[in-house]
Amino acid sequence: MAENGNAPKGMRKGLTSYGDAGFSLFLRKAFIKGMGYSDSALDRPIIGIVDTGSDYNACHGNMRDLVEATKRGVMLAGGLPIPFPTISIHESFSHPTSMYLRNLMAMDTEEMIRAQPMDAVVMIGGCDKTVPAQLMGAASANLPAIQLVTGPMRTGSHRGETVGACTDCRRFWGRFRAGEIDDQEIAEVNDQLVPGTGTCGVMGTASTMALVTEALGMMAPGGATAPAVSADRRRIAERSGEIAVQMAASGLTPDRIMTEEAFENALKVLLAIGGSTNAIIHLTAVAGRLGIRLDLDRFDAMGRDIPVLVDLKPSGTQYMEDLHDAGGLVTVLRELRPHLNLDCVTVTGRTLGEEIDLAPAGFAQDVVAGNEAPLFAEGGMAVLRGNLAPRGAIIKQSAATPDLMVHRGRAVVFSSIEDLTRRVDLPELDVKKDDILVLQNAGPKGAPGMPEAGYMPIPRKLAAQGVKDMVRISDARMSGTASGTIVLHVTPESASGGPLGLVRDGDEIELNVPERTITLHVDEAELAERRKGMKAPVHPGSDRGYRKLFLETVTEADLGCDFDFLVPQAQSESPES
Ligand code: FES
Ligand code: MG
Repeated sequence: MAENGNAPKGMRKGLTSYGDAGFSLFLRKAFIKGMGYSDSALDRPIIGIVDTGSDYNACHGNMRDLVEATKRGVMLAGGLPIPFPTISIHESFSHPTSMYLRNLMAMDTEEMIRAQPMDAVVMIGGCDKTVPAQLMGAASANLPAIQLVTGPMRTGSHRGETVGACTDCRRFWGRFRAGEIDDQEIAEVNDQLVPGTGTCGVMGTASTMALVTEALGMMAPGGATAPAVSADRRRIAERSGEIAVQMAASGLTPDRIMTEEAFENALKVLLAIGGSTNAIIHLTAVAGRLGIRLDLDRFDAMGRDIPVLVDLKPSGTQYMEDLHDAGGLVTVLRELRPHLNLDCVTVTGRTLGEEIDLAPAGFAQDVVAGNEAPLFAEGGMAVLRGNLAPRGAIIKQSAATPDLMVHRGRAVVFSSIEDLTRRVDLPELDVKKDDILVLQNAGPKGAPGMPEAGYMPIPRKLAAQGVKDMVRISDARMSGTASGTIVLHVTPESASGGPLGLVRDGDEIELNVPERTITLHVDEAELAERRKGMKAPVHPGSDRGYRKLFLETVTEADLGCDFDFLVPQAQSESPES
């Protein structure tokens, strides 16, 4: 039996070698036939389906249904579906942070796509880090691949009020702490915030990544918004299976879909939906796998042209199921049309422009604003630079206080998340409302895992005086559901010797968002002196295993926090400044 003779299609691809090639194939077939397949079943395109179900992961709680519907789509199109597991990451059950595990999932995904015989793959993810991990893995494996998401959860109802995870989680907990609602009511709310399976229904990272992935062309058209528990969601799964079979036949690989132009479309959509700042890091990581460097300054320039159009919480009022009813992503794409690269090819083999033209249009809806009446005239995010962030920092300006966008103040410095937790509410903390809170060692290596700690609490004594917002600066990330004048992703991070780690209490810092600058007013000689005494934090357990690998190889935020050895060589080198 020759390796490439009359062997089953997907089975030919296996690289496992037991002596001669013919014997290897013979052995693989013998084992797969142990599950009852016939030669006829095996002589078809084999479509792998990545199953990331886990009883820890409510966001993926509809996985079994989606795998079934995807299998049906594959079989109706003449392929053989073979589901297989990889790890699953849920935001709430990933210690120390889900970000710490994203690259592990990306490696698992890449290697299992590569290891097992298949002609194309449908990847099912949903919760925040899972979609970027799967796209990173698929980009590196470069086998025909399509992303399917589990879809957003439906909204719940608490005493007649619509609620959903997790913007409303923070709001109700705040009311409980303030004594406005009692034990019984907070327990009732707890039952309703996540009323069923699916991803958070606001414009957090999961919704953002679903929408930008559709914009990238890596998802079935209309695939981002259908609720997890809906017939539409199962139909999209079926369609994804069918598309995967076509992709296996045409050999349409991720590198032909995820081009520089496609990433530009994704970044424009990110701005227009008022998406999560986390998506910048994830898109940078996915692009990095393909040797494409996302340019932060370019992104900033796009932000000056692209308005925020989508009225979803936390910046707006509605939920993902409302965006689905308003037509889904294509309603946004239609408004953005003049800004988009319409020739980018998508998983269907058609271009983005063709897909926009095919979708139904022209009905009344109140979720996506027109270009003439946007929610914010400028895009949600701006990129800052200066001697405090030589390689950049991000601010979500749509969520910031206008009066603080140009601000000079005295630094109040916390050396770690633990230090912040210990001291921020102390009555004796020397802090005034015009000061700037600085958090060090909360970046990729510093924490480690770059937690969502950038949303520092307002010190209790100031909060009691009615202070609602202050300028806050860190090398951490921030949840897509939070708001405030918060400067994030300061690069290089303090644990890698970045200037953020040199800031001391009382230093003057100046933020100027219109001019895109962030300046530490301390002279170079003094900074050089301070640099001599700088020490990187030491983390327990960093001498072995995944933690050792992580700390030794994770890149900075401007390179996507990928592991340096996973990106093509030229990409992993740190830029000069
Ligand atoms: Fe999974 Fe929010 S916790 S998407
Ligand atoms: Mg509505």
